[in-house]
Amino acid sequence: MSAAGIPRGTDIERAVAVLRAGGVVAFPTETVYGLGADAARDDAVAKIFEVKGRPRAHPLIVHLAAGAPLDEWALDIPDAARALAAAAWPGPLTLILRRGPRVADATTGGGPTVGLRVPAHPVAQALLAAFGGGIAAPSANRFGAVSPTTADHVATDLLGANVGYLLDGGACAVGVESTIVDYSRGHAVLLRPGGLAREAIEAITGPLAVADAAAPAAPGTLVSHYAPRAEVIAVALHEVRAAVAAAREPGIIVAVLAPGAAFAAWPDLQARAWPLPDDPAGMARGLYAALRDLDAAGVDVVIAALPSDAGLGEAVADRLRRAAGPRPP
Ligand code: TXA
Ligand code: MG
Repeated sequence: MSAAGIPRGTDIERAVAVLRAGGVVAFPTETVYGLGADAARDDAVAKIFEVKGRPRAHPLIVHLAAGAPLDEWALDIPDAARALAAAAWPGPLTLILRRGPRVADATTGGGPTVGLRVPAHPVAQALLAAFGGGIAAPSANRFGAVSPTTADHVATDLLGANVGYLLDGGACAVGVESTIVDYSRGHAVLLRPGGLAREAIEAITGPLAVADAAAPAAPGTLVSHYAPRAEVIAVALHEVRAAVAAAREPGIIVAVLAPGAAFAAWPDLQARAWPLPDDPAGMARGLYAALRDLDAAGVDVVIAALPSDAGLGEAVADRLRRAAGPRPP
């Protein structure tokens, strides 16, 4: 470990000691790695915003152990939200509810609602059970960058940052962030597609409403998020060849990010092939590591094939569109 490296290992008790002392720990979840602090302490949560360089008005998700007392963390929980939680937790679903008494102001950005999630990763569950409280955690990347899906990603992104311990739980099995469903106004509204497919949720809730102007803002879903350094151009599969032709320029390295099976149709592709698994869940699992690897390989332009919205394809397409979206100056 270098002098500035984050202490790293699999010691749950050490991570709990950091949390109890009001510090920040990075930990694995099944979606992406989180950067956690005691959700009930303003002073602890403030450190997350410092490490991430994230605006303080952005609310954080509170992670809870399986079986945690929900009514201490949220108020007026609709029966339908309880039913969805019972079916989907532990798992990659976040519910936005009216904020309960244990939640620190800093966790919600001072707002009236809170995001709750019971993650399924065994290391996250062990940490939450041993800690006994709620852990407020955004994804463990610097603000605006691609979320980390391995401990190495976290160690690289947050080198030299004030993080007390990095719990290493291997590569994340889901690979994209949780699906966020707002129940703070009584009915189910989809705020962010994610690691739990819409079909699985709607089987329990019925059709999800689309976020309208009155829905709680989820500021982390800004268009400019989830972007690598390379320029990303997101297109339908049948548009990939034309997009490559349009992007080619002397001195510019172009790559195509698409399901592996698609490359058979492009024997003369004038770009680097960057295959992802063919199934939507595999694409989700590999997406963020691929975006990081493309940057590391010095690729300038990524032509990314958008999957259909079935299953986790909706979340993958959402992240690719955001990676392709306008960037801050
Ligand atoms: O899978 C995940 O959700 C990961 C892991 C670590 O749990 N967490 C994650 O957190 O993606 P973050 O902070 O990177 O993204 C959470 C999103 C942000 O867009 C935030 O604005 C939104 O959830 N959010 C959190 N609390 C909210 C609230 N009370 N109302 C509306 N949006 C909220
Ligand atoms: Mg994030």
